[in-house]
Amino acid sequence: MAEHLEISSGCKREKYEALLPQIEAVVAAESDPIANMANVASMIHETFGFWWTGFYRVIDDMLVLGPFQGPMACTRIHKGRGVCGTAWLTDQTQVVPDVEQFPGHITCSSASRSEIVVPIHDANGEVTGVLDIDSAELNTFDETDRIYLEQVANLFH
Ligand code: SME
Repeated sequence: MAEHLEISSGCKREKYEALLPQIEAVVAAESDPIANMANVASMIHETFGFWWTGFYRVIDDMLVLGPFQGPMACTRIHKGRGVCGTAWLTDQTQVVPDVEQFPGHITCSSASRSEIVVPIHDANGEVTGVLDIDSAELNTFDETDRIYLEQVANLFH
């Protein structure tokens, strides 16, 4: 999917360029991953004004809701289900321009229109969770988001 995406405008890139070093500093200063997920969700959410920004963690055989900003959300997602479960199963970032076109999309909030989900790995390359961001507008996410958000996800190795 990613190869069909456009590189977005300088404005978005500039925001990520300013945000990424701040996120790196926050994560470097704290060893607890939950605390870091909480602050990273907040930093991304506040910078871009997304609808929902948060993490799901792999616990046993499910994704379980972790730290987030935005409305309350589904707590457990099976592997292979929805956008999050697909990102886990395929180990690929999912960029969804229109959630209604994604087979099996899980509707946590009817206001969500587009979505990006980025897998998080441990040092062995196993998926340990996902970073999930929802927008209330169509076509919000593109290759620029994928590139920078994968860098954010890599900080949780
Ligand atoms: N829409 C997601 C579920 C999580 S919520 O968006 C927060 C999915 O289909 O996996």
